[in-house]
Amino acid sequence: MILTKPLLLISTLFALTSTIQATPTGEELVKANCASCHSLGVPTPEQIQSFKAPAMEAVLFHVKPAHNNDDAKTKEFIVDYVQNPKIKKSVCESNKVAKFGVMPSLKGKVSPEDLSTIADYLIKTYPTPKFVSLITEMQTNGKMNSLKNSPFLMNQDKLPHLTKILMENWEKASLNLTDEQKTKLLVVRKETLTAVKKIKKALKPLETEVIELTVDEDTTLKDIKPKVDEIARLKAEASMIQLKCLKDSVAILTEEQLELLLPFWDA
Ligand code: HEC
Repeated sequence: MILTKPLLLISTLFALTSTIQATPTGEELVKANCASCHSLGVPTPEQIQSFKAPAMEAVLFHVKPAHNNDDAKTKEFIVDYVQNPKIKKSVCESNKVAKFGVMPSLKGKVSPEDLSTIADYLIKTYPTPKFVSLITEMQTNGKMNSLKNSPFLMNQDKLPHLTKILMENWEKASLNLTDEQKTKLLVVRKETLTAVKKIKKALKPLETEVIELTVDEDTTLKDIKPKVDEIARLKAEASMIQLKCLKDSVAILTEEQLELLLPFWDA
């Protein structure tokens, strides 16, 4: 009689620990199954260079809006993607897949029940506000830098950078670019980049020269004017190339494809 109580206690404890072991938390499961490739903290820009997969913060940052921030759809996507990853299903930017390769399937390595726990944990945890503000800042800096080096006359947000958006969505199943469209679009892109690059190369020394001449006491504004006119001419030329690129790309794409690429753009 005296002996049974501690025994009971021990067996209850034993049962308790084994249930704990049998149901690890989402965090533990993610650490055990995903962390070898996906970094789980907020990455620094330097770290990003050495990654073999996008940080989990970045994954959820892309996957959530791609499913209209609907948790059920996001979960369904994650559970499926981990088991059957395919380039066509990927919602992350295509350049990520090009950089890292398609994720290897974990089918059979992680049970569907664990995956369900994992997906819930990821959706609850990522992206953190810290990561969102880091990304927003990086995007703003990127925008400022490209504005500073812009050879174009117009830099309105309304003017869509269609070739860039296209490249980011190149392999997306929902966009469904045909091989013929791809070939044509690549020609447009190549011609545009080559022509704009040439103009940028000519602009840089001209602008430096104008600055130097302006602070030089022996030079009058009249001497400088032709150089400023040449800068204006080159920028106008670059702008026409930019607009032609947009026009040519729009002509290659269907109405539905355009709607997908420029959802916030009302012509
Ligand atoms: C062996 C390395 C590796 C492991 C382990 C791994 N992943 Fe990935 N994962 C990748 C790579 C590489 C990509 C980027 C390419 C891609 O999207 O397929 C990726 C992309 C993803 C994406 C984004 C899919 C998209 O739209 O492109 C999700 C979601 C994802 N992983 C979830 C997970 C989860 C959850 C786990 C753990 C259960 C996990 N991964 C484990 C390598 C890995």
